[in-house]
Amino acid sequence: MYDYVRMRLGTKKILLLAMLFGALGSCAELVANPTYQKKCAGCHGPNAEGKAVLMIKTTPLNQAAAKSDAELTYIIGNGIPKTKMKGFGGKLSAEQIPNLVSEIKVLK
Ligand code: HEC
Repeated sequence: MYDYVRMRLGTKKILLLAMLFGALGSCAELVANPTYQKKCAGCHGPNAEGKAVLMIKTTPLNQAAAKSDAELTYIIGNGIPKTKMKGFGGKLSAEQIPNLVSEIKVLK
């Protein structure tokens, strides 16, 4: 079966497909992270899609993927003034924040 697919598609395309699926897989990392579901999903949506409920308005989190690691680390640690986004510096461990940052960075 694999040989047949390889003959039809060529190795390069298989690699491309594998990369594509790899990238899609990583999209789910953030929303599969229990920390995200517990601490963030309430405002950012269970699929990081953003939310507009009463006082809470958030844009889809993939829009934040373009921000640098440092910016994201700062936002998650310190929050954004005058918004409902509060800092999680004292509430998350030293590993949890960088994990969230790298999971946001790979959102598409
Ligand atoms: C009480 C609601 C609330 C919770 C809980 C919350 N956020 Fe936010 N967050 C906001 C709001 C409001 C904004 C500003 C609007 C926006 O950028 O979507 C924001 C903005 C952000 C941004 C910047 C988005 C951008 O596009 O610039 C990031 C990154 C972020 N939050 C990550 C998180 C993470 C990670 C958690 C969980 C540890 C979390 N937030 C928990 C409400 C919340």
